[in-house]
Amino acid sequence: MRDFNIVVLGAGGVGKSALTVRFCQDVFLETYDPTIEENYRKVIQVDGTPARLEILDTAGAEQFKGLNEGYIKAGRGFILVYSLTQEASLREIDMLRQQIYAIKGGDTNVPIVVAGTKMDLVNEREVSNDTAQTLSSRWHAPFYETSAKRNWHVTETFEDLVRQMLAK
Ligand code: GTP
Ligand code: MG
Repeated sequence: MRDFNIVVLGAGGVGKSALTVRFCQDVFLETYDPTIEENYRKVIQVDGTPARLEILDTAGAEQFKGLNEGYIKAGRGFILVYSLTQEASLREIDMLRQQIYAIKGGDTNVPIVVAGTKMDLVNEREVSNDTAQTLSSRWHAPFYETSAKRNWHVTETFEDLVRQMLAK
């Protein structure tokens, strides 16, 4: 069975762990416990092909940023996570995307999916669907608005990435 090495990146508190844990364990992480580094595994079927996902949930906290370079070197597919309740977190994934391209030697075909989180927090939205959609299109990356709490578009996000990785 093929291994899919996936790295989840984004600013602190945007919901990387909640998204990953919803996908892997189907529970919602209500309490915020900042991550240092966590590994998850899940076997899924994508279009009839079994895939063993190795998912690295990274730290958003500033003091761990130095670790990203090594993660990006080892990773084959990336989920760039921002919170649609926090505009600054969208700028953060732009930086991460540029870092990925630089580290991958300018390869613009690196599998990437953009995930906006906390879609259920309708009254706290700071980033419109349009803004994120436009940016993601410019990057040629699929884009999903998700909610780990409500389990909206979580599976689709990971499956889309695996499809891109399968096509590589
Ligand atoms: P770091 O590990 O510090 O980088 O943070 P993180 O990106 O992993 O954030 P985490 O998943 O820990 O979520 C931070 C807080 O946001 C937690 O209290 C979560 O319960 C909450 N949260 C995450 N996703 C959602 C969501 O989809 N909806 C709502 N309402 N809250 C969410
Ligand atoms: Mg986390």
